[in-house]
Amino acid sequence: MKALLLENIHPEAVRLLENAGVEVTERASAFGETDLKAALPGVDLLGIRSKTRVTAAVLDAAPDLVAVGAFCIGTDQIDLAAASALGIAVFNAPYSNTRSVVELTLAEIIALTRRLTEKDRAMHAGGWDKSAHGAHEVRGRTLGIVGYGNIGAQLSVVSEALGLRVVFYDTADKLLLGNARRCVSLDELLETADIVSLHVDGRPSNSSLFGEKEFTRMRPGALFLNLSRGFVVDHEALRRHLLSGHLAGAAVDVFPDEPRSAGEEFVSVLRDLPNVILTPHIGGSTEEAQSDIGAFVGSKLADFITEGSTSLSVNLPQVTLPAATGTHRLAHLHRNVPGVMAEINSVLAAHSVNVEAQLLGTRGELGYALTDIGIDYPDDVVARLREMDPTVRLRVLS
Ligand SMILES: NC(=O)c1ccc[n+]([C@@H]2O[C@H](COP(=O)([O-])OP(=O)(O)OC[C@H]3O[C@@H](n4cnc5c(N)ncnc54)[C@H](O)[C@@H]3O)[C@@H](O)[C@H]2O)c1
Repeated sequence: MKALLLENIHPEAVRLLENAGVEVTERASAFGETDLKAALPGVDLLGIRSKTRVTAAVLDAAPDLVAVGAFCIGTDQIDLAAASALGIAVFNAPYSNTRSVVELTLAEIIALTRRLTEKDRAMHAGGWDKSAHGAHEVRGRTLGIVGYGNIGAQLSVVSEALGLRVVFYDTADKLLLGNARRCVSLDELLETADIVSLHVDGRPSNSSLFGEKEFTRMRPGALFLNLSRGFVVDHEALRRHLLSGHLAGAAVDVFPDEPRSAGEEFVSVLRDLPNVILTPHIGGSTEEAQSDIGAFVGSKLADFITEGSTSLSVNLPQVTLPAATGTHRLAHLHRNVPGVMAEINSVLAAHSVNVEAQLLGTRGELGYALTDIGIDYPDDVVARLREMDPTVRLRVLS
């Protein structure tokens, strides 16, 4: 099997895949659609981070691809519906860099509250300003977290240890951690919080979630942070509210248009504003997180090709069967319609093939069955299973 890993994926993933017998090719940069289409024939596994877009057209041009590993948190750079329809498994690392994002958020909350970057810039220019004007403690201030998921909830817990009061707003029902208080609306949070930090996911409806109306509702002198998704915030509106002095500062880690490589210029209306910390999408970029992501997604891909396990797959039914010896495993992905298991088992029975173990999982329109059979069986069995009308993809793992 061959894997193509783009965007500087951690060596731990390479090690795990090579241990599983995969030949790995690595590239440092993201690939555009044309290059990706040209590179994918003959590739079984594709590893990407957030910059490479895996569209339906790319997947159509990848006849050998069985799985995509997103070595990051989000998967909206991948056309998941198209991947599912073609029976291509997608894996990501939903929790590996949660703590890294939380720590950067906290560092920025303190840095903005103390106007640290302004003091730092002045010092490098030879200045010496000891004034306490505009510098505050975070203790006793109210942090408003929008999106109380993995990151938002952990930020809530760690922030309280610093003496911040935490309020949050989430569209879904969430368990309140520590002393955090839930706001019934985004408006309530905006009117309450001294610091607003966005940690929502990348669903399309979150596009321009934060614009003129939301910034206007924020308290005068409040701070704003976005370490979630670039398209969630109207940066022109943010710039206006920073320049007018309505907001005292902002930290932004994610942008609607991010350079694709280190050589490309970063263009943003937020450049050169006072008390604004800009970081190049590094919320989750720590060596600890990268190594954890490499190990997590690398092991998911390795388990998928060796055992057919789809545990924590983003798009396929999740099925894991203990590894067995002296058997072959049929990994059968099919349309979730009545009678598929009966048909699989009647093909096996008609060829006198004994089933050693079998497990089925379904998810929406797809079903996925792992069946262990003895290694002596007629070739015709596999051909007959592939010919079944509901079959999307059949792999034989030995
Ligand atoms: N800056 C980085 O490097 C970096 C690193 C990791 C994650 N992220 C991003 O951080 C965000 C949060 O990650 P996570 O793992 O906590 O995700 P998550 O899915 O666990 O949590 C997202 C939460 O936001 C809530 N939500 C969605 N839309 C909302 C809305 N309009 N209003 C209120 N709540 C809403 C959801 O219900 C959910 O609880 C994601 O967008 C992720 O891509 C960025």
